[in-house]
Amino acid sequence: MLPIFMSKYFTYKNANIHYSTKGKGALIILIHGFLEDLSIWSDTSKYLSNNYQVALIDLPGHGKSDCLGYVHSMELMAETILQLMKTLKKRKCHLVGHSMGGYVALAFAELHPDKVKSLSLVCSNARADKPEKKRERTKAIQLVKTKKELFVEIAVPELFNYNLKTNLAGIKRIKKIAHKTSIQGTIAAISGMRDRYEREIVLKFAPYPVLIIGGEKDQIIPLEWLREQALIAENCQLKIIPNIGHMPFIESPLIFESILKRFIDQS
Ligand code: MLT
Repeated sequence: MLPIFMSKYFTYKNANIHYSTKGKGALIILIHGFLEDLSIWSDTSKYLSNNYQVALIDLPGHGKSDCLGYVHSMELMAETILQLMKTLKKRKCHLVGHSMGGYVALAFAELHPDKVKSLSLVCSNARADKPEKKRERTKAIQLVKTKKELFVEIAVPELFNYNLKTNLAGIKRIKKIAHKTSIQGTIAAISGMRDRYEREIVLKFAPYPVLIIGGEKDQIIPLEWLREQALIAENCQLKIIPNIGHMPFIESPLIFESILKRFIDQS
């Protein structure tokens, strides 16, 4: 598949961070999730770049971006988003984050609320991990240290509604990206997610519109959490896409893209 965007890099704390942009207009930044890279947004960005400037980034330790250390906190990753905006000379953006990318978007929104035009959380949430989940993450780190391939083989299918044969190609595509993610990058992201702060307060006082998109069959982020979180933000829309898991932009791209664009157009 030909790359639809040109690869570019900026430097942050001596690390090369990979990004790409296309289109003109108000800036939309799409932030991928754990074990993904910027290519997951290929369909979404093609669609949105007819009307907007769309910027994609490989978070530290993912895709073609270097690692910044052994723990990538959500705040540290959020600072690379700020650096991206500085590189593009933009003061404000529509932020869209998938899962871990949503945790990063929330950290960014807390640090720089004046730079956010709208916030879209895609299969993500503002809560911190419960103690049980933190223990699971610590165990996952041990598995990644010795058997990263096995970890990827188990983790990726869980992201999809894998009862649907139509998702097999998507599972294969994400596995390929996840297998390329380095052990250091994988562990740094798991550690950062495990230690992240709760950010419901960011939703509660959001001075910009918020969109929460969920998948009906998401096994990672339960729908109940999304419903509860949608009640926290005053100016919030909740959209649940039927019969899909944690990967709406791959499992149901057309519905996903039209929900997202309609929201950003209104914001
Ligand atoms: C992701 O898809 O980014 C992660 O699965 C999120 C998480 O593990 O909390």
